[in-house]
Amino acid sequence: MKQKKPEKKLWAGRFSKSTHRLMEQFSASVGIDCRLYRHDIAASIAHARMLSRQGIITQMDFDAIEKGLLEIQAEIENNTFEWREALEDVHMNIEAALTAQIGEAGKKLHSGRSRNDQVATDMRLFLRQALDGICLQLTELQHALIRLAENEAETILPGYTHMQAAQPVTLGHHILAWNEMLQRDFERFQQCRQRINICPLGSAALAGTSYPIDREMTARELGFEGVSLNSLDAVSDRDFMIEFTAHAALAMIHLSRVSEELVLWSSDAFGFVDLGDRFCTGSSIMPQKKNPDVAELTRGKSGRVCGDLMALLMVMKGQPLAYNRDNQEDKEPLFDAVDTLKLCLGVFAAMFPGVKFNRESMNAAAEKGYSTATDLADYLVRKNIPFRDAHEIVGRIVGYAAAQKVSLPDMTLSQLQTYCPMIEQDVYDVLDLQGSVNARDHAGGTAPKRVKQAAIDARKLLDARNSHSR
Ligand code: ARG
Repeated sequence: MKQKKPEKKLWAGRFSKSTHRLMEQFSASVGIDCRLYRHDIAASIAHARMLSRQGIITQMDFDAIEKGLLEIQAEIENNTFEWREALEDVHMNIEAALTAQIGEAGKKLHSGRSRNDQVATDMRLFLRQALDGICLQLTELQHALIRLAENEAETILPGYTHMQAAQPVTLGHHILAWNEMLQRDFERFQQCRQRINICPLGSAALAGTSYPIDREMTARELGFEGVSLNSLDAVSDRDFMIEFTAHAALAMIHLSRVSEELVLWSSDAFGFVDLGDRFCTGSSIMPQKKNPDVAELTRGKSGRVCGDLMALLMVMKGQPLAYNRDNQEDKEPLFDAVDTLKLCLGVFAAMFPGVKFNRESMNAAAEKGYSTATDLADYLVRKNIPFRDAHEIVGRIVGYAAAQKVSLPDMTLSQLQTYCPMIEQDVYDVLDLQGSVNARDHAGGTAPKRVKQAAIDARKLLDARNSHSR
């Protein structure tokens, strides 16, 4: 940021001494909020157009303002715009540049508005756009997962509880569980979009304005769904950001959970997945290493976004109505939450199509873990043995098998019958992994047939998404 001769402040009227150098640095946010420039300019043009429509400024003034602002936008985008720390923030930098460029008309732009409703508007415009981008990325990632789920609808791996092999499940079912998490994240973002998409302009500093403004018009111009209903609330609350960041934190936690599984699955101990050379890194000392860094970084970054949420909550805590400068501290955490989530969603969507699952090692792991023990108990229940007794019998059978180091389907019929005479030849159908997953044939179940249907249903939900999230 450029440090130059003392700049005349837009609010200098009531001051007789110039600002301390440290105070300028302390107060400035332009290094961070300059990224709002497009939204700031769009909102200023909408506001000025409304002012001219209402006869508050002339059409000529509006034309000059619009032209000037668009030129400034071009300068910013060409990197020829000179941002000044002494002008504090993006709003005053742009307004000062406008007045320098077009003269008197520039000074009229701020009629009937304040930086308080201006920054609240800019942040809502920013977040609406960011959220739409995130929803697009979620959709892309979900498409990738659903494709994988279809390919792996028949693949069997152990399902785990307590990280102990529990019952066999299909990999497609497991992947669609990830998709469910992201589906809910998407829905949460869409619900919160409605509350973001409300226009605070016209609230001015805190109490509204005495000009004959048309709030509906500015709101419409900017694509807002409606206008805020209380000026004090509109300039001060940042709950729309907190809500978004809570959803972002939860989405990151979901990615973190998936990451944890990818880390485990790509280890030698599991050998379930190869994440692909393009998304792994090596070690500078151990030549054999291929590290799952995408997953680990994502797991790590999820902590940052949770921290962003906490930061925003704490910025808000204890603020009396209406606007307080505390709110300037909302930008870094919000921008960080947006950037981090976008980064992770992007790399996940790029990585997943190249991920290779090792069907043999998954199947072997499922064979090893006595994961069909529950199926055997259910089989005995069908032979009229109460479930608790069946559980007990199977427990003893597993104990024997473990001692003998054999799997359940390896046991002979007569061995099995020593634990329960009602066991017959058909028991081998349920001890088999395929039989076990096929039997779970109900809504939400792991049977391949169900998984294929669930994938079709999940894709239908994606196709029904409205245009701004596609
Ligand atoms: N940069 C300020 C912010 O982000 C803009 C609003 C400042 N308002 C004020 N009265 N100082 O919150």
